[in-house]
Amino acid sequence: MSDSEVLPVTSVLPPPIEMAGPRRILSGMQPTSDSLHLGNYIGAARQWVELQQNFEALFFVADLHALTVNPDPALLRERTRRTAAQYLAAGIDPSKSILFVQSQVPQHAELGWLLQCQTGFGEASRMTQFKDKSARLAAGEAAGGGPTVGLFAYPMLMAADILLYDSAYVPVGEDQRQHLELTRDIAERLNARFGAGTAVVPKPYIQKETAKIQDLQNPAAKMSKSSSGGRGVVWLLEPPKAAIKAIKAAVTDADPDYRVFYDPETKPGISNLLSIFSAVTGLPIADIAAEYDGRGYGYLKVDLAQAVSSFLIPFQERANMYLSDPVQLDAILADGAARAAAIAEPVLERIYDRFGLLRPNYGRLNVPAPGLATLDGGAGIVG
Ligand code: TRP
Repeated sequence: MSDSEVLPVTSVLPPPIEMAGPRRILSGMQPTSDSLHLGNYIGAARQWVELQQNFEALFFVADLHALTVNPDPALLRERTRRTAAQYLAAGIDPSKSILFVQSQVPQHAELGWLLQCQTGFGEASRMTQFKDKSARLAAGEAAGGGPTVGLFAYPMLMAADILLYDSAYVPVGEDQRQHLELTRDIAERLNARFGAGTAVVPKPYIQKETAKIQDLQNPAAKMSKSSSGGRGVVWLLEPPKAAIKAIKAAVTDADPDYRVFYDPETKPGISNLLSIFSAVTGLPIADIAAEYDGRGYGYLKVDLAQAVSSFLIPFQERANMYLSDPVQLDAILADGAARAAAIAEPVLERIYDRFGLLRPNYGRLNVPAPGLATLDGGAGIVG
């Protein structure tokens, strides 16, 4: 496979086993809300669960990224646990994948700095997500908190997340494609400046079309907490009756014949409902379409609402099991962070070395330097 090749958008199947090269994948989400929504599950988490079977997989909660919009500290901590618990409830298996919290692996922030120093100001200024978010924040600046320097540096931290593990593939939605392209540019630049093998150039693994879930009130926009004031969103941790209500109120496409078939162009509302139906039941889209074709959209909605509710109940039970035992949850995450750091540390050392930073010869893998202060105060005072 060439570096520029993108896996077919129609498939989430992993590439053939005989494919040469590293088979490591990595992805993450920001802990920016109390609950993930159905779009996060179908578009991302569900595919991660599939991918962990065939790849060495790392999934993390991007809490450092969430800092770019200056969240309330208690809320950030709570949402970090909630996001991790929902990954687990979705089926991320810590014995198969490495599940961790970004800030617990300090190498992310360290490599982030190095990559900021390898990114052009103009190139970072072209990131559309930065432009959109900073415009929105600037508009609200009077109310406190305009765009931060961190928001500008966000894509270089994301590049660090990826390059730190020599990741081969990065499963992301279309909205993150530009950040992935920047990551690839940075990786190629490192290899050109500091020698081949400094960084692995990652490939995007873009979700398949039917995994893109749109807002139930506005099928032209993807499901997100900002679209339609949240009315078109199904939250995974909300009482199932809220989901039932949202689905029954979903906008469908005017059609006197109530035709049901998958075509996001001409039937965006119905296609979205079919994608959700298929994802939560495992039934093929064509079978569902045949079942409801011409019968009136009410039948489709009622059965879909039921199917989503049947999915949410056990999902919430699993998530709540983790959330009700934060000691256990934190232990799972700490274990993940240790395993992640064991991969990240030698990669970071390699890159530090290539950049010409003078490295201590004792390394630093949890080994305090001889004669330096330790945090427990045994050897002296820091600083
Ligand atoms: N920027 C991603 C998002 O908002 C989250 C993210 C951070 C990420 N670092 C990453 C995704 C590395 C994939 C790989 O969706």
